[in-house]
Amino acid sequence: MSSLLIHNIGMLASPEGLEARRGAQQGQIRVLEHAWVYTENGEIISYGSGTPPVSFGEKLDAGGRLVTPGLVDAHTHLIFGGWRQNELAMKIRNVPYLEILAAGGGILSTVKATRAATEAELFDKAEAALNEMLAFGTTSCEAKSGYGLNEEDELKQLRVIQKLNKTHPMDVVPTFMGAHAVPPEFKEDRSAYLDLLCETLIPAVAKQKLAKFCDVFCETGVFTAEESRRILEAGQKSGLIPKIHADEIDPIGGSLLAGELGAISAEHLIVCPDEGIQSMARGGTIACLLPATSFYLNSSYAPARKMIEAGVPVAMASDFNPGSCPCLNLQLVMNLGCLKYRMTPEEVLTAVTLNAAAAIGLADRVGSIDRGKQADLVLWEAPDLNYLCYRLGSNLVHRVIKKGNI
Ligand code: NIG
Ligand code: FE
Repeated sequence: MSSLLIHNIGMLASPEGLEARRGAQQGQIRVLEHAWVYTENGEIISYGSGTPPVSFGEKLDAGGRLVTPGLVDAHTHLIFGGWRQNELAMKIRNVPYLEILAAGGGILSTVKATRAATEAELFDKAEAALNEMLAFGTTSCEAKSGYGLNEEDELKQLRVIQKLNKTHPMDVVPTFMGAHAVPPEFKEDRSAYLDLLCETLIPAVAKQKLAKFCDVFCETGVFTAEESRRILEAGQKSGLIPKIHADEIDPIGGSLLAGELGAISAEHLIVCPDEGIQSMARGGTIACLLPATSFYLNSSYAPARKMIEAGVPVAMASDFNPGSCPCLNLQLVMNLGCLKYRMTPEEVLTAVTLNAAAAIGLADRVGSIDRGKQADLVLWEAPDLNYLCYRLGSNLVHRVIKKGNI
């Protein structure tokens, strides 16, 4: 048996429980001072404040630092070929994101690069990104396909995710996102691509157990709400749980649909209308907000406070991708959550731990410091939670513990 006692913790901060927290509960976290956590075989056995009751096994002196659960990144487009630094000049000239996409750039240029890459190349690149995420305090994440847009290359991306989940310390949860764009070869016949998605790709992905979720980019010029419904319902029929990129640029009904389908989460929601918030509250959908994307697209910020007030659980994630958000640093996302969404540090912590875990179906295993959960913890170069949310641009990670391993 391997055991680890982390003692001399200045502040232990964590949401509690096995499911997403909404409304006032989102900001109610457990805070212990002069605390300790004891783990065995990668599992949290006990925690408390004062003198730890155990003294055997390996010990780690936290030196009075802040300890939180490992961060959970519930939305990434981790697997892609190439980068898109060539788009920076267009961004500076204010060329809109959807215009770059319509001209065959944007997502479609990454599709070209991803199709050209071998499985091994994609693996190495994503592995490097996972290492960087871990160094920033992320211990579990979601990863989407969506830069293949045909059977061969979508399955290639999903196999890379599967292999990373097996070989890398990070827990990586796979999402099928063949509905990220209509590929160029179907430009003149989009209904044929919808048929391919619903009748061939989704069943193939489900049969090979390569994804847990199915996601769609519901947006002007990409997929309409009706098309999104068809795709997500086909996913549900095959056992894939729905997620949806909704109301990122235009509010065309994505958040309404999310609530109606009981989607586990809706993403972005920058221009989410009140009816969409109500629909998500009714459907039990988690709002997965991506403030670093708002920053990078120079757009407005999702109405997070309204969502919390309406009882919609709010999660936050990076949206790491080569176009709209080449950022995988959840510490920056936490800063933006406070400064732009006006969420409190406590609400923000819940958003990047327990609620994020719930958004990817992992809330029973990670996302909080609770007995029986995986010992995924971060020791921060910070005395308290306010400090972690207040400093900007530094990596405040002191040490990351994954499944009890330092
Ligand atoms: O979530 N909005 C759609 N998909 C990604 C962007 C992908 C890309 O630009 O390559 C997003 O922002
Ligand atoms: Fe995204």
